[in-house]
Amino acid sequence: MAVGIFDSGLGGLTVLDAVSKRLPDVPFVYLGDNAHAPYGVRTADDIFNLTCAATERLWAEGCDLVILACNTASAAALKRMQETWVPDTKRVLGVFVPLIEALTERQWGDNSPPREVSVKHVALFATPATVASRAFQRELAYRASGVDVEAQPCGGVVDAIEQGDEILAEALVRSHVEALKRRMPMPEAAILGCTHYPLMAAAFQDALGEDVKVYSQANLVAESLADYLIRRPEFVGAGTVSKFLTTGDPKAVSSKATQFLRRRIEFEKA
Ligand code: DGL
Repeated sequence: MAVGIFDSGLGGLTVLDAVSKRLPDVPFVYLGDNAHAPYGVRTADDIFNLTCAATERLWAEGCDLVILACNTASAAALKRMQETWVPDTKRVLGVFVPLIEALTERQWGDNSPPREVSVKHVALFATPATVASRAFQRELAYRASGVDVEAQPCGGVVDAIEQGDEILAEALVRSHVEALKRRMPMPEAAILGCTHYPLMAAAFQDALGEDVKVYSQANLVAESLADYLIRRPEFVGAGTVSKFLTTGDPKAVSSKATQFLRRRIEFEKA
């Protein structure tokens, strides 16, 4: 009864941590496509092809349900995958919708028409590909009206995290927050729209100031997955073993994952 969790690299581990705490009896198979990270500077076609290949790999592990714990893949590839590629017997879900449902104060899976919500000025921090896709604004417009979104493409942050360079990642976060604040000086809420960014959550909160509510996806995705599995238990796959797979070098990836999550994680070659 395994569920697959996919990211281009280490970022999805923030989601993996939250889902495995929320659903301790469900085995999770994590796949990081570290050999091809970062996705955020790739074309939509490239992201689609890489994400489909990774999803097939997780299906082969007995995971009929795969969570794209990657905003870039969720933004640039998921809609096309669901419309043209995923068979009826499988499910692929992204990380945007749970976040937007929380921001717009909706129940999980509530698809009623857009309505006015209390938050009006939202800062979105994400990869260049996620920002370019405008998927966040599209999904938000289905659910809320009158919300002003200012998006900041955070070039370099994922690279710095994948390379294990926390000092560079922090400096880049500060400069991206400053750039956004020049265009939207007083956001009420900030979205960490990349699953790598919770690893830098303290730097984001510090640069934004205490008054800004920072939304990150991990716990929201965990709650919405728990709800989904109650509604659709048939999509818990046949796999029984939790494991960490990478397309990169397992030794190097294990050591960076251990550094960022501050607990020992052992990756195997995918
Ligand atoms: N963690 C990913 C995301 O949520 C991927 C970033 C990347 O590979 O550029 O967007």
